[in-house]
Amino acid sequence: MNESAKPRFLLTLCLLAGLAACTPPADPPLKGAKLGGAFTLTNQDGGTTKDTDFKGKYRLVYFGYTYCPDVCPVDLQQIGKALKAFEKEEPARAAKLQPIFISVDPERDTPAVLKEYVATFHPRLIGLTGTKEQVADVAKRYGGYFAKAERTGASGYLVDHTRVTLLFGPEGEPIVIVPQEQGADAIEEQLERWVK
Ligand code: NI
Repeated sequence: MNESAKPRFLLTLCLLAGLAACTPPADPPLKGAKLGGAFTLTNQDGGTTKDTDFKGKYRLVYFGYTYCPDVCPVDLQQIGKALKAFEKEEPARAAKLQPIFISVDPERDTPAVLKEYVATFHPRLIGLTGTKEQVADVAKRYGGYFAKAERTGASGYLVDHTRVTLLFGPEGEPIVIVPQEQGADAIEEQLERWVK
C-alpha cells in the first residue's frame, strides 16, 4: 500500500477494533420475522395449553413425532443435554426457558404417548398435540412444515417434517434458529447468548 493510504488504513483498523469492543449486542436474527402466534393445543397430561400460558418465558420449540425413527430422538437428546448444561451454569436464566415439543403426528401421538416420550429427554419438556387441524395450523405459523410420507418404516408410516428448533422470547417474539443438528454445545451457546 502507498504511504498516503497507510494512515487511513490504520484508522480503519482502530475503529473496527474499538467498535467490536463496544458495539451493543446485535438484534436477534429473527427479529420481526412472521413466526409464532396464538395456539391452543393439548398437553401430555391431557389438559389444554395455550401460547399465553408461557407469557414471560422463553420458549424453545421443536416439531417432530414420537415414532420418528432417527432424527427427532437425536435432536431432542441434544436439546435436553444442552438444557441440563445451561441449568447447571445459569439456573436462574434456564428457569425462564420452556422447552416445547409439538407433534406433527397427532393421530398416533396421544397425550399418553407424548408423556412417556418427552420425559426421556428432559423433565421439563412439554409435549403438545391436538387435532390434525390444530397441529397443521400451529406448524404452519411456527415454521414446522410436515407431510405424511408415502414410504413406511418399521413402526408404520413416516412423517416428513422440517428439522428446526426455534427460540422465542418472553412475549412470543421469534429470536433465533437454534442449530440443534450441531449438537448440545452449539445449542447451549445460543441459549447463553439470548436467554437473559
Ligand atoms: Ni423426526
